[in-house]
Amino acid sequence: MTRVLFLGDVFAGTGRLLVSRRLPGLMADEGLDLALANAENAAGGVGLTPGCARELLDAGLDGLSGGNHTFRHQEVVPLLEADPRVIRPANLPEPCPGRGFTILEARDGRKVGFGNLMGRVYNNQPLDCPFRRAETLIGEMREAGALVTIIDFHAETTSEKISLAHFLDGRLGALLGTHTHVQTSDARILPNGLAFLTDAGMTGPHGSVIGMRPAEVISSFLTGRLHRFKASKDDPCLEGAIVDFDGQGAATSIRTVSLRGLPE
Ligand SMILES: [Fe+2]
Ligand SMILES: [Fe+2]
Repeated sequence: MTRVLFLGDVFAGTGRLLVSRRLPGLMADEGLDLALANAENAAGGVGLTPGCARELLDAGLDGLSGGNHTFRHQEVVPLLEADPRVIRPANLPEPCPGRGFTILEARDGRKVGFGNLMGRVYNNQPLDCPFRRAETLIGEMREAGALVTIIDFHAETTSEKISLAHFLDGRLGALLGTHTHVQTSDARILPNGLAFLTDAGMTGPHGSVIGMRPAEVISSFLTGRLHRFKASKDDPCLEGAIVDFDGQGAATSIRTVSLRGLPE
């Protein structure tokens, strides 16, 4: 059995602290073979920098995926090109720096393909079709030797995520949603074996509006003028999912993880 942890959007310093303080214990207690996370909000709540990526990888994460905020900081570009453990959405228009999937070796020696896609509903970035790109992405991961296949689908709406899950059922190991920062309670195995969760949630400050301090966000809604948002530090909580795969790479179980509080 291969046991994989996937963390929902790691948000700012609070999210990085949660990873460094809780991941080693989780690895041991759960007998994890691989630990992955969406890291598009790791740097101050928006984007990823090489320093923040190093912090998360040093804390024990094996792979980091991205989303709509991935390219916020330009210094991420050389990192994406140099480090195969850090990926960005595969359906960004080519040419695009970095890679849309990676092959990682789990503790039990199995090869895990980890891919990343972005949804198009309520997202005004120009993106290739995530459904068609998913099909080629799975083929590329298998061709590169992946037995277990996992895709982080970074998307806004439940309908787009659930549709992609049914579309890929029987062809992919696990489809795990990110981007909303709110964990859903629908972890399940679909009829043809795909492990699915609409949204893995957020590893960060939950006393917030999806990571940011409420005051400035509320002001923006009240006045219609944008205010500069600040990352919250309130109510740290690590959220994600644990998926088990059998020797053929088929998912056998999926459950959500939610660990409140920051241990000393
Ligand atoms: Fe996010
Ligand atoms: Fe996002």
